[in-house]
Amino acid sequence: MDKSIDSIYQEALDELDGVSAPEALEAVQVRYLGRKGRLTAFLRNIASLPPEQRADTGKKANIAKKKLEEAIRQCGESLKSGKGNAGEQLDISLPGRPATPGSLHPITRITREICDIFARMGFSIAEGPEVELDYYNFEALNVPKYHPARDMQDTFYLSDNIVLRTQTSPMQIRVMEKQAPPVAVIAPGKVYRCDSDLTHTPMFHQVEGLMVDGDVSFADLKGILTTFIHAMFDAQTSLRFRPSFFPFTEPSAEVDILCVMCRGKGCRVCSHSGWLEILGSGMVHPNVFKSVGYDTTKYSGFAFGMGVERIAMLKYGIDDIRKFFNNDLRFLRQF
Ligand code: PHE
Repeated sequence: MDKSIDSIYQEALDELDGVSAPEALEAVQVRYLGRKGRLTAFLRNIASLPPEQRADTGKKANIAKKKLEEAIRQCGESLKSGKGNAGEQLDISLPGRPATPGSLHPITRITREICDIFARMGFSIAEGPEVELDYYNFEALNVPKYHPARDMQDTFYLSDNIVLRTQTSPMQIRVMEKQAPPVAVIAPGKVYRCDSDLTHTPMFHQVEGLMVDGDVSFADLKGILTTFIHAMFDAQTSLRFRPSFFPFTEPSAEVDILCVMCRGKGCRVCSHSGWLEILGSGMVHPNVFKSVGYDTTKYSGFAFGMGVERIAMLKYGIDDIRKFFNNDLRFLRQF
C-alpha cells in the first residue's frame, strides 16, 4: 500500500513534467486530485485498511497530496509567466535552422581568378597602401606636379602630397625600389577616383602587372596578355592593341577584346564598335626606371593595368557597376 502512494505521486510528477499548456495541467489535476482522481481514491480507501495501518498510510498520503498540490500550483505559475516547464521548452524534434554558407563577392572571385592565371605564368603577387604618397602615385611614374596628364585621373587629395591612389601603378615603383630585376609581379587592389555614374564608382579595383628583365619586348607583352585573355574569357576571344598614351609607358597601347556579347557584330555594350576596351599597357618609360635606379641600358619591361569591375561585368553580363557595391543579397547570392 505504501509503495503504491509513492508510485502514484511519482507518476503525477512525471506527467506534470510534460505539461506545456493550462488545459494539460488541469487534466493532471483532475486525474489525481479530482473527485474520482487516483490520489483521492487512495485516500478514501484508507478507511478500509486494517486499523494498525491506517494512521501511518493516511499520514503519508496526506503529505503526498500536499506536495502534489504545491507542484501543480508552481507549474501553473510558470505557465502563466510564459516560461513553461523546463522539460517542454526544448522541442528536439524540430528541424534545426541550417547555417547558410556565405559566398565570395564577385569582385573577389574575379580578382582571384586574374591572380591565379598570372601566378601560373610565374608572376608573384604584391599589395600596397591605398592611401599613397603623391610621389608614388604620380611623380615617380613620370607625372610631375602640374603636368597636364594629371587631368586624366580625378584625384582625391588628402593633403598636398598624400592621395587616395588613383591606380595600382604606384606598386610598380614600390616593387622595383625593393627588388632588382628580374621582376614579374601583379598587384591587385582598390583605387579611388572622384567619378560616379553607370560605369564608374568612386572606388573600384585594378590589377597591375609588371615584368622587367634583360630583354623583355613588346612581343612578350602581347604574348602574356593574349594568354591571359584566352584563359579569362575563351580561346576564341581576339585582341587588338590600339596605340595610346600613358605617362609611365612608351610606347603605350590599350587592349580591346572582341565584344563578348555580340562577337564583333556591334551591340549596345560595345557602342556598336564590336570591340571592348579592357586594359592599358605599354613598355616601361625610361624615366620610371630612373626613379628607381634601374639601369635603362640593361633592362626593359612592360606594365599593364586592368579594371576588375569591367572584366566582371563582361564575364557575368552585368550592366550597372553600382550593383557590385549596393550589397543587395539577391544580386550577390547569384555568384
Ligand atoms: N594605370 C593606368 C590606368 O589606371 C593603366 C596602366 C597601367 C597603363 C600600367 C599602362 C601601364 O589607367
